[in-house]
Amino acid sequence: MGSSAGSAAPAVVKPKIKQGVAPLRAGEGHSFLLRRLHSLTGIVPVGLFLIEHFISNAFAVNGPAAYTKQVEFLTSFPFVVALELFGIWLPILFHSLYGFYIWYRGDSNIGEYPWTGNWMYAAQRWTGAIAFFYMGWHTWHIRFTGVHILSHPASAFGKVQLEFQNTWVAMFYLVGIIAASWHFAYGLWLFAAKWGIVTGDRARRRFGYVCVIIAVVFIAVGMATMRSFFHWPLHPVNGGSS
Ligand code: HEM
Repeated sequence: MGSSAGSAAPAVVKPKIKQGVAPLRAGEGHSFLLRRLHSLTGIVPVGLFLIEHFISNAFAVNGPAAYTKQVEFLTSFPFVVALELFGIWLPILFHSLYGFYIWYRGDSNIGEYPWTGNWMYAAQRWTGAIAFFYMGWHTWHIRFTGVHILSHPASAFGKVQLEFQNTWVAMFYLVGIIAASWHFAYGLWLFAAKWGIVTGDRARRRFGYVCVIIAVVFIAVGMATMRSFFHWPLHPVNGGSS
């Protein structure tokens, strides 16, 4: 009727591709909520746990006695297994599995990762994958097999030392630490951009430098911690007293 029959095809308005990371928007169905939850769990509780874990392990720098004291402190919490389950394992599992799903779907915004674009996008996925397999290995060997660490915290130092007796395993730890550090630090940047905490190109670029420094600090602390396990003589893993 009143339509412009025969005239030009309806105009297609192409959305402009903006620089920077697109904010998470409502109206994307249930995936909106899951994407938000994925983003949030990267910081709370998984990111916070990563910070605590690096600090706690850094006590190894002061030797086996200091390390044991810290492990004793952590394992002395009431409902410790429930804390581990709901505060660490399940959130990591959700963030990881949904992270693989995001990767598989190819969702997101390759062109919108700034600066080095594709590289950052790919690095965030590959570092996540490396961290996933590393965490699987690490928790299986330290937490779930061998001498029970909750009832024998004094064996923790020696257990890590035993891991490092195999050079390949020690290298895997190093790679895992680097991957987790980078993933978390760049994750902070992504989080701040997506949630509108840091806005504007200049501020984001500056915050990017801060995040690179955070990654370097984590890697340095992780390496210093690893070095301590080589530095001190082998500590007994017998579940005996420290
Ligand atoms: C050391 C444990 C981990 C920590 C602390 C962590 C933390 C974070 C943080 C803070 C973010 C930014 C959140 C956002 O995009 O808004 C993020 C993003 C991401 N994480 Fe993790 N993560 C961890 C493990 C993993 C694992 C095992 C995977 C599995 C592949 C993974 C996959 C992803 C993906 C794909 C993104 C980017 C999502 C996007 O670009 O939209 N993460 N992570």
